[in-house]
Amino acid sequence: MKKDLVSISDLSGEEIKELFKTAIDVKHKQMEVARGKTLVLVFEKPSLRTRVTFSVAFFQLGGQVLYLAPADIGLGKRESVPDVARNLSRWVNAISARTFAHKTVEDLAKYADTPVVNALSDAEHPCQALADFLTIYEHKGKTEGLKMAFLGDGNNVAHSLMLTAAKVGANMAVGCPKGYEPKPEFVEKAKEDARKSGAELVITSDPKEAVKGADVVYTDVWASMGQEDEAAARKKIFAPYQVNAELLKLAKSDALVEHCLPAHRGDEITDDVLDGPHSVVLDEAENRLHIQKAILYKLLARN
Ligand code: CP
Ligand code: NVA
Repeated sequence: MKKDLVSISDLSGEEIKELFKTAIDVKHKQMEVARGKTLVLVFEKPSLRTRVTFSVAFFQLGGQVLYLAPADIGLGKRESVPDVARNLSRWVNAISARTFAHKTVEDLAKYADTPVVNALSDAEHPCQALADFLTIYEHKGKTEGLKMAFLGDGNNVAHSLMLTAAKVGANMAVGCPKGYEPKPEFVEKAKEDARKSGAELVITSDPKEAVKGADVVYTDVWASMGQEDEAAARKKIFAPYQVNAELLKLAKSDALVEHCLPAHRGDEITDDVLDGPHSVVLDEAENRLHIQKAILYKLLARN
C-alpha cells in the first residue's frame, strides 16, 4: 500500500482484495501492532460510525487515540494545514481526517510524514466504499459481474463506490437527477478502471433503469454535511429516487440494500426497506471497523 489512503485511486484492485482478506482475518485475531502508538482523528464534521470505528480499530490493535473536534484546532484557520500536518507528524503515528475540502486531506497527506487516511471529504469516502464492497463480498461470495445501483446524489459516497466497483469488476448504475451527477473526473477515472476490469458504469436520470436487475441497491442522504441549507429544495428534486418497496421490486429478488448511514428515514429510504430482509446496513457499519483495522494494520506494517 502507498503511505496514504486519500482516494480509492490510491489502491489497486489486488490491494482492495488483499484488504478484504486482511479484514476478515483481523476479525478473529489479536494483532497488537499499534502498542505504544497513537492515532489522531482530525474531524471538521460530525460523526458516529467513523469516529467510533477508527477508535475501536486502533484500540484493538493495541494503540491509543486522540480526537480533535472541529473547534479544537481550527484547521487552516488558526494554523495552516501544512503546519498542522508537520506538527502532528512529530507526535503521532497515523492521522485520520474528516474534512470539507478534499484538498485538505490531500495536503495533510502531502505534508505529514505519517500515514493519512481519508475519513470522508466532500469528494470521497473511501473507507465507506471498501466496507460496503467487503459486505457484498461476504454476502455474495464475489464482486465480479455483480450490479450495484446507486440512487440519489452523485456525491462523495457515490464517487468512492464507483471507483471501487470499477476496480473489483462490479457493474454500476448511478441513478440521479440532472445536475446532481457524479463529478466528470470521477466518472472518467472509474470508466478507465472499468474498461480494465471488464465492468460497466452507467449514469442515468431514470431510477427504474438504474435499479433493474441490480444485485445491490444503495442510497445515501440527499443533502450531505455542509449542504443543510439545500435540504428542502433537494427533498423535492430527489423524491423520484427514493428507495422503497416498489422500486426494489425491479432489482433481483435476492438483492442487498445498502446505506452508509446516517439515514433520513422516509426521505431517501423507507423504514420497511431500511429495516427489511434485504437490508445489510448494520453489516456495513460493523465492517467499517474491520476494514479500517485492516487499513491501519497495513499502513503501520509499512514502517
Ligand atoms: N457512514 C459514516 O461515515 O457515518 P458517520 O458520519 O456517522 O461517521
Ligand atoms: N454523503 C454523506 C455521507 C455521510 C456518511 C455526507 O457527506 O454527509
